[in-house]
Amino acid sequence: MDQMNRGLGVFETEKDALDWYESKPRALSKEFLSSIPWEKVSDYPLNKQFIPVLLYMRDVETFTEIYYQELLRTPTGKDPVIGRFMERWSEEEQLHGELLNRFLNEAGFETRKEWQSESKSAIPLRYTFENYVTSMVTNLFGKRFSGAHMAWGAINEMMTLQGYRRLWQLAEHPVLEYILRGIAREESAHAKFYWSIARLKLERSVPAQKLARFVISKFWSPVGQGTKPQAETDYLIATLFEGADGISFFDRNVNQRIERLPGFAGLKTVRERVAGIALKEAIETI
Ligand SMILES: [Fe+2]
Ligand SMILES: [Fe+2]
Repeated sequence: MDQMNRGLGVFETEKDALDWYESKPRALSKEFLSSIPWEKVSDYPLNKQFIPVLLYMRDVETFTEIYYQELLRTPTGKDPVIGRFMERWSEEEQLHGELLNRFLNEAGFETRKEWQSESKSAIPLRYTFENYVTSMVTNLFGKRFSGAHMAWGAINEMMTLQGYRRLWQLAEHPVLEYILRGIAREESAHAKFYWSIARLKLERSVPAQKLARFVISKFWSPVGQGTKPQAETDYLIATLFEGADGISFFDRNVNQRIERLPGFAGLKTVRERVAGIALKEAIETI
């Protein structure tokens, strides 16, 4: 077994990865949820620069439902192991969005009761249409496309996980950190599952590796972009991964792990996109 891959979880089969995921109790258990000290949220200041970041993350978490419905239309979603994973995964993401929303309210940033439907109706129609087309295209490639789907999902989950880590480090709000650490444990399990399934699917097929590498290098965009305006995605990246420090954090924790997927060695697309935004924003604000 490759030592480098050990931390990411190396399973022999897709079923092993699913069994591992299903055997894990939820990090956001009833006990965890009832232990969140909501009444202390307003005791600590929250820098306003993080409000748009929290709103973005909240919305993108709840948009998982839409992404889930899209995936169900593809061979990836019809794969019994992935389909079963996605049922629990989409519920977990939904709760993440709700916790972030509650945090915002407790911190004095009141949100509207209908925030979920309002955020969803703000998604450009173009996005829905493009995704419908995308799922038709992916259906043409059939199962061979699943490696690309899973690699894409792994990047998104890793980016989300590292985004939360950066957020609690930068915001220095103890209750937010407590909540985000709980959420991050679930994100870490998602990342491990996606990465492991991508590895298994890609390992078996060189054409699938080539297709996945091509798709990520040509079409990958940061999580949430498309459903949210690009300016908001850029703001989040610039705030969380700003400067050389932020970029090397991102490179170590996301890009280098993706490069360990079969057929992905030397692929720097993800790092470069993020660096392009984080450095450009930094220059513009000088
Ligand atoms: Fe999440
Ligand atoms: Fe996740």
